Amino acid sequence: MAEKTSDRTEEVAEYYDGVGELVEVVGGNLHLGYWDDDQDDTPFLEAMSRLTWMVAERLALRPGERLLDVGCGVAEPAMRLVERLGISVSGITVSRWEVQQATADVARAGLSGKISISWADAAALPFSNEEFDAALAFDSVPNSPDKQKWFGEIFRVLRPGGRVVYSEYPAIADMTAAQREVLRANTVPDPPTSMDEAVAPAVSAGFEVLEGLDCSDRVRRFYTAFLQRFADQRADLSAAYGKDRIDAFESGITQMFELCREKIGYYLIVCRKPSGVGSTTI
Ligand SMILES: C[S@@+](CC[C@H](N)C(=O)[O-])C[C@H]1O[C@@H](n2cnc3c(N)ncnc32)[C@H](O)[C@@H]1O
Repeated sequence: MAEKTSDRTEEVAEYYDGVGELVEVVGGNLHLGYWDDDQDDTPFLEAMSRLTWMVAERLALRPGERLLDVGCGVAEPAMRLVERLGISVSGITVSRWEVQQATADVARAGLSGKISISWADAAALPFSNEEFDAALAFDSVPNSPDKQKWFGEIFRVLRPGGRVVYSEYPAIADMTAAQREVLRANTVPDPPTSMDEAVAPAVSAGFEVLEGLDCSDRVRRFYTAFLQRFADQRADLSAAYGKDRIDAFESGITQMFELCREKIGYYLIVCRKPSGVGSTTI
């Protein structure tokens, strides 16, 4: 029987609440990193920032414009985008821990006038039609139990001509039922199996596709690098947050990332709401 959207979203919220402070391991970023080729020796955190800059370029925003960040984590990408692009951002997440932490981090950075963070479900956005110049869903669409609803909502709140930039985690090899369950338990319920499938919910919401970039081979190193980084910090993390919590997290994330390294790719997708198309739903 199909699960109710709200139950799945609640599970996602619990997952990110549970990760909580461990986001410090990745410098506040909850997305992958990008390396140009196998010889590229860019350090881990820099490779994560590089993916943020790739997203920034594709948003095509001008200073003063407004961005909706769907699934903003602890607002690390939002803060970097505000500094680089001179925009303002409304970030939403379903994790109450992230809302608190992101709000505190944004205030500490002196960016409260530019970034507001709130609890909201991407399937029911608490914003008016055509309120935003662009939208970003950076490694959050894979969490969605109803991508059609998410893109319908993003389409509604974007102005005509506005872009949405998002990433997807496609399945690039066959998976067993047990492996699919590992993905689902780690907030990835429904990976697409091709670029066509990855853009389909955006296209049926009315978006036109400007770019579909397959970065699978350029991000794969992230999984091994993360697990190494976590192992290097294990003793300090155990002292700070308790050995049981760290052991449980490490065992779950190792199973997930070993599977992702083998069977999950990465797409960066840019779409535009056609000019001259209004939003009719509320
Ligand atoms: C992998 S994290 C990415 C965070 C951030 N974009 C970044 O790059 O650091 C996924 C984010 O999506 C959020 N999310 C998942 N489902 C959501 C939903 N239904 N509505 C709003 N946010 C959601 C999670 O709470 C989390 O903040």
